[in-house]
Amino acid sequence: MNIIDIIAKKRDGRELEKKEINYFIKEYTENRIEDYQAAALIMAIYINGMTYREIKDLTIVMAESGDILNLSEIGENVVDKHSTGGVGDKVTIILAPLIASFGIPVAKMSGRGLGFTGGTADKIESIPGYNTEISEKEFIKNVKNIGISLITQSLNLAPADKKIYALRDTIACTESIPLIASSIMSKKIASGANKIVLDVTCGSGAFMKNLRDAKELSKTMIEIGKLANRETICVITNMNQPLGYAVGNSLEIIEAINFLNGNMPKDLKDVVLELGAYMIKLAGKGEDINENKKRLLDNINNKKALNKFIELVQNQGGDIDYIKDISKFKKSEFIQEVIANNDGYVQNINAEEIGKISCELGAGRKTKNDKIDLNVGLILNKKIGDYVNKGEILATIYANNLKKAKDAEKRILNLYLIGKEKIEEKTIIDVVS
Ligand code: URA
Repeated sequence: MNIIDIIAKKRDGRELEKKEINYFIKEYTENRIEDYQAAALIMAIYINGMTYREIKDLTIVMAESGDILNLSEIGENVVDKHSTGGVGDKVTIILAPLIASFGIPVAKMSGRGLGFTGGTADKIESIPGYNTEISEKEFIKNVKNIGISLITQSLNLAPADKKIYALRDTIACTESIPLIASSIMSKKIASGANKIVLDVTCGSGAFMKNLRDAKELSKTMIEIGKLANRETICVITNMNQPLGYAVGNSLEIIEAINFLNGNMPKDLKDVVLELGAYMIKLAGKGEDINENKKRLLDNINNKKALNKFIELVQNQGGDIDYIKDISKFKKSEFIQEVIANNDGYVQNINAEEIGKISCELGAGRKTKNDKIDLNVGLILNKKIGDYVNKGEILATIYANNLKKAKDAEKRILNLYLIGKEKIEEKTIIDVVS
């Protein structure tokens, strides 16, 4: 077998056999195929697509390219959640302790930010001392002891995905249904969960820009889940504007802490409750979705979720004084307000552009080795559907560089589309199972 024939086959739109997919993944992961050849094949997949069978074979071989965690000692049903990526997405930070507060084990591995989307692992590291890079043994021990652990993807899970994901990012091949589906599901399979709830984001700040593609991606991941014996549910959520008000690492952690104290932005609350209700259902702890949502709210109001978060942070070396007193978080040097220059309803705030601005301020990485600034970002004071008067604050920028703050101000002002008509955004678009 050779890689040139495999590239030619996919280039011509033909279906790859399992042994050809296995050959490519194995040889590429072990550095026996050049990046330019892998890039050609990935581009051919991007253009010509894959059948479900090909996607399943690709997913399984990527999952098996590294270790596969055995979480059976944690429980019979281990539920995991994953988002296809968005801007201002602090759902995992809230949902992980909230679900664990029901006694449902949470063994969560989260990625770092790349490009315009942020990463949960970076966000939680804005709590001084929090260690996201513990060993597999310690990770499992933590889940057994306190019911929760949240770490970054430092274990040797799905290394083939890591390599291919980094390559896709450099050759404009990120937004591909077979490639996203196999990337996400290979990591989920390798991380040991047998029940999976997926947040499939849809809109300007997501990889899936329209509902048709979001549904197709959902269907594909559910099919792979079935073939791999992992029950999977997809919740399609709106990412036409950032989720909640905060974008940027410590700013998002502060918003998550406020949420756990009962101060819940409406769109963020809708996503947390919908995903959480399905996680409880898949864990076998409650069939009725509406009832589950009420129970989730109870555990926020009675502070059980907040206390679980404090326990998680303490157990992983973080300074819990920051959770008890959010004014301890380091402030950025410059604070720049963006002021509305006309009256009307906010009709659009392009989430991808907001993500890019936050990245420019230093909150994200352009390449994977960039160092990020945990204390910069922005707060949206107005969101889609809000009425704004001329002279009111649309957004507040937190920067450590005055020029960057001024550039961001101009760009954000242009992003706010203000008009006469009030636009209603629906947060939960669909549930696919
Ligand atoms: N998230 C992933 O883990 N992989 C993708 O390809 C896209 C989003």
